[in-house]
Amino acid sequence: MSVVMLLALKGYSQSSQDQQFFESKIRPILSQYCYDCHSSKSAKIKGGLKLDTKDSTLKGGNTGPAVVPKDLDKSLLIKSIRYTDEDLSMPPKKKLPDDAIKDLERWVSTGAYDPRNDTPTITVSEALARKHWSYEPLRRPPVPQVQSKWINNEIDSFIFLSAKNKGILPSQEADKKTLIRRVYYTLTGLPPTIEEVEAFVNDPSTDAYEKIVNNLLSSRAFGEKWARHWFDTSRYSDTTG
Ligand code: HEC
Repeated sequence: MSVVMLLALKGYSQSSQDQQFFESKIRPILSQYCYDCHSSKSAKIKGGLKLDTKDSTLKGGNTGPAVVPKDLDKSLLIKSIRYTDEDLSMPPKKKLPDDAIKDLERWVSTGAYDPRNDTPTITVSEALARKHWSYEPLRRPPVPQVQSKWINNEIDSFIFLSAKNKGILPSQEADKKTLIRRVYYTLTGLPPTIEEVEAFVNDPSTDAYEKIVNNLLSSRAFGEKWARHWFDTSRYSDTTG
């Protein structure tokens, strides 16, 4: 047995393995191949069967339970996907890929673990989106204890440490003229005017840089620069009608 497998067995309890199997295999199959006709969002629910919650799957449709955990032969869902019964072959148009059939059989024979309750179904992409880091609860990781004159705040400590681990050292501190050009290009894509450079160079206050950044963040040019990227992401395009 490989080390990776050993770790996997050690690290995951049975129920989280079941959960992983359900999320990576079963939910995608049901949502891709069955929900069109068998979910609360279907235009018309076929055969009285909803396959988008645990309860409705166990209860089944007009004929009876769709899934009987650990009993392949009594599970109508399994019967239907095997395409052995002319009157009940699902999905109606085309047999599922062999892998999907095997996965559903494994799912039922190992107890049909099902975390879905009776709240409305979420789609695969919604489920994935919810795992995005921006929805993770906030955590306070310990601040790395590293020393450098380059470090001015806690965020710098994290950056310094991971750069150092990659063999990268901070470069020379930029002079004020260089710095203001850089921050303008980064935030707005445009250079500062001569007056703006001079005002910044001659501003001795400790928050001179901060003021520039805040100004740029609330400028129209900042929105325009980044909107270009959002438009690409949202596939905006002008058409000729
Ligand atoms: C295009 C629509 C459509 C899709 C997609 C579809 N079904 Fe069906 N399903 C039906 C219709 C219509 C019936 C009822 C009439 C019949 O027996 O053909 C039905 C009935 C069933 C029944 C019997 C319900 C009962 O109790 O009578 C089962 C089980 C079932 N489907 C499972 C599935 C599974 C599993 C999938 C996905 C792999 C699936 N279906 C995908 C249309 C669909």
